[in-house]
Amino acid sequence: MEKLGVVLCGLGFGGAFAPIYRDHPDVKFIGLFDTNGQKLEETSKTLGIERVYHSYEEVLNDPEVDAVHIVTPIPRHEEQAVMALESGKHVASTVPMALTLEGIREIVRAKKQSGKTYMLMETTLYTRQFLNALSMYKSGQLGRVQLLRGCHYQDMENWPEYWLGLPPMYYATHAMSPIAALAGSRVEKVVCYGSGTMRPELRCRYGNPFPAETALLRFENGLAGEVTRTLFETARAYLEGFNVYGSKASLEWGFKDSDDLIMTTLESADHRGYGTPSETLRSPAAYENLPESIRRYTLASGQYDPTQPEKSLTSGAAGGHHGSHPHLVHEFIRSVLEEREPAISLDFACNVSAAGILAHASALAGGKELEIPRFE
Ligand SMILES: NC(=O)c1ccc[n+]([C@@H]2O[C@H](COP(=O)([O-])OP(=O)(O)OC[C@H]3O[C@@H](n4cnc5c(N)ncnc54)[C@H](O)[C@@H]3O)[C@@H](O)[C@H]2O)c1
Repeated sequence: MEKLGVVLCGLGFGGAFAPIYRDHPDVKFIGLFDTNGQKLEETSKTLGIERVYHSYEEVLNDPEVDAVHIVTPIPRHEEQAVMALESGKHVASTVPMALTLEGIREIVRAKKQSGKTYMLMETTLYTRQFLNALSMYKSGQLGRVQLLRGCHYQDMENWPEYWLGLPPMYYATHAMSPIAALAGSRVEKVVCYGSGTMRPELRCRYGNPFPAETALLRFENGLAGEVTRTLFETARAYLEGFNVYGSKASLEWGFKDSDDLIMTTLESADHRGYGTPSETLRSPAAYENLPESIRRYTLASGQYDPTQPEKSLTSGAAGGHHGSHPHLVHEFIRSVLEEREPAISLDFACNVSAAGILAHASALAGGKELEIPRFE
């Protein structure tokens, strides 16, 4: 297999990925599917993508389709991933992976039986801020990691009905993934408290009484992490952020999602104990590992000059979740073609997804410590 036929399912947020697949050199064709016929037609016309499908079965029955990228409403992810794997298709799935541990087990079973690739398309693992933090950690600039914090504050009032009352920790991967990756260890245990009161109609769909949840994670290597999520009726600027505290330097995401990282360096402190110098750190756009034809998608606008890539790619505002979208597409495509585990491995996806599901279970049980199972 030299090139892949891919179908994008769900064209809301998912629509942002269509032109990236269209322009990827290893993609034979990109097809589109959405249950909303009007959206399907409009996206097809706007992007000049003619291959469209009118049912999920039609996608899965097409022998030319190698892979699907699922960006449909949350309650559909698990069943559509299992159906695709059972039909012999590779799967890229938006977050969350599933809403139950049983759902995660089903995906693992279908993936193992089919031998196909499953990749969780976790945007926070390819933001320019995270890639910068990871490279600083790997080069020793942070020293030993001592503590980690992740947060995701977002008010989902007025979003499609399947969001209403969702337990905050069911959608915790954006807060959890960067710190689990920087810990370099699987989450072993979780303790979580629910907080606040939520108006009654928001409690109906998922039986969740908490607008906010805050959890402590114990990693297998002994590190601890803290994860906080707010989803409803909590006034806070939107942020999907992480903080990593190291023995030499620490990085903290600013107040808003559009902010840069703030670095505090211990080594250069003149007067330890009374404040250490901090500076804002501009994380460069990361594009070097991407094929030339999709580098532009690390930018928010199309202001990309192929004759001066360094200049335009480092000065422009980052696109799609801080430039992450083309990295996710590229990693998915290359992992399938190279027949290797994607960088966001199945084990990692299962671990952070289960940690979120069990965090909510812990909150419902008044903060009981729960172990995260392995999904062999
Ligand atoms: N940073 C991220 O990773 C990130 C950001 C935004 C959304 N998401 C995820 O992406 C998913 C979609 O988010 P959204 O905001 O576009 O949601 P949405 O509900 O606005 O859009 C979903 C789209 O899927 C279509 N659809 C519904 N049921 C379908 C089905 N069975 N098959 C095919 N298409 C179907 C709808 O018509 C709609 O166009 C959500 O699950 C969300 O969790 C992830």
